[in-house]
Amino acid sequence: MERREIEEIVRRCVMEKLENGGKEYIVAANWKMNMSAKAIKSFLEEMNQVEIPKHLRTIIFPPYPYLNIFQKMLRYSRITYGAQDIAKEEKGAYTGEVSADMLIDMGCSYTLTGHSERRSYYAETPEIVAEKTRAAIMHSLTPVICIGETLEQRQSGRYKEILKAQLDAVEASVRESMGVCMIAYEPVWAIGTGVIPKISEIRDTHKFIHEVLISYGGTYRKTVPILYGGSVSEKNVRESASVKYVNGFLIGGASLNAERFKTIIKLLSVD
Ligand code: PGA
Repeated sequence: MERREIEEIVRRCVMEKLENGGKEYIVAANWKMNMSAKAIKSFLEEMNQVEIPKHLRTIIFPPYPYLNIFQKMLRYSRITYGAQDIAKEEKGAYTGEVSADMLIDMGCSYTLTGHSERRSYYAETPEIVAEKTRAAIMHSLTPVICIGETLEQRQSGRYKEILKAQLDAVEASVRESMGVCMIAYEPVWAIGTGVIPKISEIRDTHKFIHEVLISYGGTYRKTVPILYGGSVSEKNVRESASVKYVNGFLIGGASLNAERFKTIIKLLSVD
């Protein structure tokens, strides 16, 4: 596809989303266990120079210890931020955990829950993810619930079942509040690999997730943003943005560099 054609599709798609209920487009950065205080200060100084268009909601998820830098530096900014994880407990003897109240104290508006790295390296079951999501909602933090299948699950054709089970576990716990969440579809095989699913696969999977949300009932679930994540970069973001039911992106590697992140924001901007 020609560059101009893709630009036109993105433009139309963003406008369509705005017209259909004034929905925003979301650009979220998952920094994982990367960056330093110094690097973050210069990143945010650069970002504070950028005019973020009204229809773009920009969210950064830094490591916990740096949330205070965000609180100080983003006071007058349109850039919002959140945590990469949250404790399911309220408070008490849970060494190493960070509670919802603490995140609110740090000015967070969001938290990720159920990132595949937490599910696989820290043995977070769908039930734990559901409890964490619930803890976030109870404290008015918007959870960005990450779901995704492994390569083996995709190849075996069982991936829809897996995705539905991940969503069902959360829905069983939060019920009506599912409507205030965001979903990030991140195929495990696309995370950090440079391999991005075919556009037809993204379209099909996002449509499926949308249908599962609708099946829970309640019209507001139609407006739950579904982000795509996994090897998103300035090279592929425009084409993926044109896909129906893709309401934004959760970006890892490509969000660590201010220039690359700014390029992605620019590519998703409507002028
Ligand atoms: P990636 O990570 O963009 O580096 O693939 C995405 C994520 O894990 O959220």
